[in-house]
Amino acid sequence: MALDTKKRSAEPGEIARNTSEHLFVSWSAQGGLKQVVIDRAEGSWLHSGSRKILDFSSGLVNVNLGHGHPKVVRAIQEQAERLCYVTPGFGEEQRAELARLLAEVTPGDLTKTLFTTGGTEANEHAIRIARMFTGRHKIMTQYRSFHGQTQGSMTLGGDNRRWANEPGITGIVRFFNPDPYRSPYGVSAQAALAHVEEVLWYEGPQYVAAILLEPIVGYAGLIIPPAGFLKGLRELCDKYGILLIADEVMTGFGRTGKWFAVDHEDVVPDLMTFAKGVNSGYVPLGGVIASAKIAKHFDTNVLWAGLTYAGHPLACAAGVATVNAYRDEGIIERGAKMGELLMKELKALAARHPSVGDVRGRGLLGGSSW
Ligand SMILES: Cc1ncc(COP(=O)(O)O)c(C=O)c1O
Repeated sequence: MALDTKKRSAEPGEIARNTSEHLFVSWSAQGGLKQVVIDRAEGSWLHSGSRKILDFSSGLVNVNLGHGHPKVVRAIQEQAERLCYVTPGFGEEQRAELARLLAEVTPGDLTKTLFTTGGTEANEHAIRIARMFTGRHKIMTQYRSFHGQTQGSMTLGGDNRRWANEPGITGIVRFFNPDPYRSPYGVSAQAALAHVEEVLWYEGPQYVAAILLEPIVGYAGLIIPPAGFLKGLRELCDKYGILLIADEVMTGFGRTGKWFAVDHEDVVPDLMTFAKGVNSGYVPLGGVIASAKIAKHFDTNVLWAGLTYAGHPLACAAGVATVNAYRDEGIIERGAKMGELLMKELKALAARHPSVGDVRGRGLLGGSSW
């Protein structure tokens, strides 16, 4: 069936009016906001009437393939014609295929996925799985971190967006990140690890289910930990029977020049959460993938978790097409190459502006401190 994609339900003025009168906009006092109305997007460009806007942040760091990739669009269309929805309890081709592909591209023995509709739910489910698996309650996270905005994930995150929403959930303990640019530990992974272990002793390691962190911190300051920190955390976790959870929601699927940020240090977490780049943001999707040992535990123990939209067929069809495009078109390698150019230009920018204290990045995740 031919689709009339040019059809408009309203003029831009009316869309802007409806937006400001009837829509809450994230992270803002609402009065006086004026949205630019986007009517289409292609590659790295957003279009607003005749105006072209460079989408320099790839949406919310999620449109890793660029906008309007024809194979992903086609996969969603074909899936919509075949089967838009079936409950998570049924088998479904695209859902199963994406889970298989994820087991293939994620590191180590990560093998079994629980799908969610985004990153925050992925982290909520990761800590529930960790608590069910270990029988322990506490979760340790970093102060400089963002893990989403549902109640649990908001508490996991340490950045100041949690303040207005506190109190959060119980059992979350935070430690200071190693931040090579601005932290008491400088570039010393050993000093940072000693701090984490000290916090662990005060909390009682036998009560700690998991350490959850972004391998490279995104929204809370783009912090790349010193080499050896993630490996050291892995060792600490193994020493105390604690699970390591990597939140790869922002850093996953080529954003840092490898499939996942943990791949830079050859660290295999016990649980990994993902969203955003898994299908380039075309349809909401997230999830948590678990190691073989954790997966096996739930062969004989009930997984007390479930969502109406877990593994939505449209989202999974987009995911299969996206992961295949990453592979077929060498997108991960391209991210690494373009990242070198980005760093070169960021450094040149920093050299011209004395207020820039530091520029840093990995792959196409780059930023600066002022
Ligand atoms: C590292 C990280 N984790 C979790 C989330 C939450 O993901 P979502 O907005 O899909 O719920 C984000 C969102 O930006 C994120 O950057």
